[in-house]
Amino acid sequence: MTRTLLVTGGAGFIGSNFVHHIVRTTDDHVIVLDKMTYAGNRESLADLPDDRVELVVGDICDEKLVDDLVTRSDAVVHYAAESHNDNSLADPGVFVQTNIIGTFTLLEAVRKHGVRFHHVSTDEVYGDLELGDPARFTEHTAYLPSSPYSSTKAGSDHLVRAWVRSFGVQATLSNCSNNYGPYQHIEKFIPRQITNLIDGVRPRLYGSGTNVRDWIHAEDHSSAVALILDKGRIGETYLIGADGEKSNKEVVELLLPLFDRAADDYDLVADRPGHDLRYAIEWSKLRDELGWTPSFSDFESGLEATVQWYRDNEAWWRHAKSATEAKYSAQGQ
Ligand code: NAD
Ligand code: TYD
Repeated sequence: MTRTLLVTGGAGFIGSNFVHHIVRTTDDHVIVLDKMTYAGNRESLADLPDDRVELVVGDICDEKLVDDLVTRSDAVVHYAAESHNDNSLADPGVFVQTNIIGTFTLLEAVRKHGVRFHHVSTDEVYGDLELGDPARFTEHTAYLPSSPYSSTKAGSDHLVRAWVRSFGVQATLSNCSNNYGPYQHIEKFIPRQITNLIDGVRPRLYGSGTNVRDWIHAEDHSSAVALILDKGRIGETYLIGADGEKSNKEVVELLLPLFDRAADDYDLVADRPGHDLRYAIEWSKLRDELGWTPSFSDFESGLEATVQWYRDNEAWWRHAKSATEAKYSAQGQ
């Protein structure tokens, strides 16, 4: 049966990858609700058919608009957020508004109309792990967020669970590790370094470059969310990861040779205040319960394909480069 999915934040990085995934793998119709902040880009949806994907420009905090769109939908997949830790340190207010009030507004609408809800969240709600520790986050790890970004995502997760328990909202949640792939804003680590290298500029590593992130391709995140939406148990949380732990220095050392540059041709710059040391995801629940596995098991080839995408799609990112770098340079980064 063909469904109508309301995808919030569908013009952002992971949301647009999800919309592509849905158009490719189902007959569903998609309504994208996106405020088109600096992070939204119409071009990320430009090659999708108009009769399958409708873009509504608006705010998830707009009660009336959200109510109208929810009545037209069979399910809501909620990606919209302010998503960048560095921005959350400079200006936390908009993170509280979008990530918490926006999620509240959506929850009230799905409660009223009895519509299925999937909440997309991050492993950063669990805080960080020690470097060199074999421990990973599980669905039972206690919440201990570090930044305004991760604490507002943690708040939104708590709202979703409370709306399930108190009001019987039909919701699932997922917490995913760091994503890479096409359509990622160039403020984020991997595309910032790729576009620096395209411009002949040295990559910039915060602090000592030893912080570890657990990388997953955005297409794998999308297939996991689509499966949880179809088969996940209501009220449950699923962690999504792909065993992609790498230090930031290791990522840059993989990128540099792709541009014929020496593996130590980077700069160490000012560290991020409160910088989480390491994230790592234990995703066996998703594998054992729903049978999901990632298709991009080799980070190096996924990274090479991502480099090629940024080389081929300069028109998509070029307009944002100088303002992004000016902001970083004012922070000594
Ligand atoms: P992004 O910043 O690239 O995209 C966010 C989108 O939301 C943008 O299109 C923006 O215009 C839109 N938006 C922002 N405020 C809005 C509002 N008030 N109303 C409507 N739309 C609004 O972010 P992303 O990296 O694609 O992340 C998407 C989701 O996935 C977020 O919820 C994030 O917490 C989660 N997540 C991200 C990662 C990651 O590695 N990037 C990992 C795990 C989870
Ligand atoms: P980022 O992409 O901002 O994601 P997150 O903060 O959600 O993990 O950063 C990924 C890692 O890269 C993080 O440890 C911070 C680091 N980083 C750099 O070393 N240099 C950079 O220019 C940026 C943007 C991030």
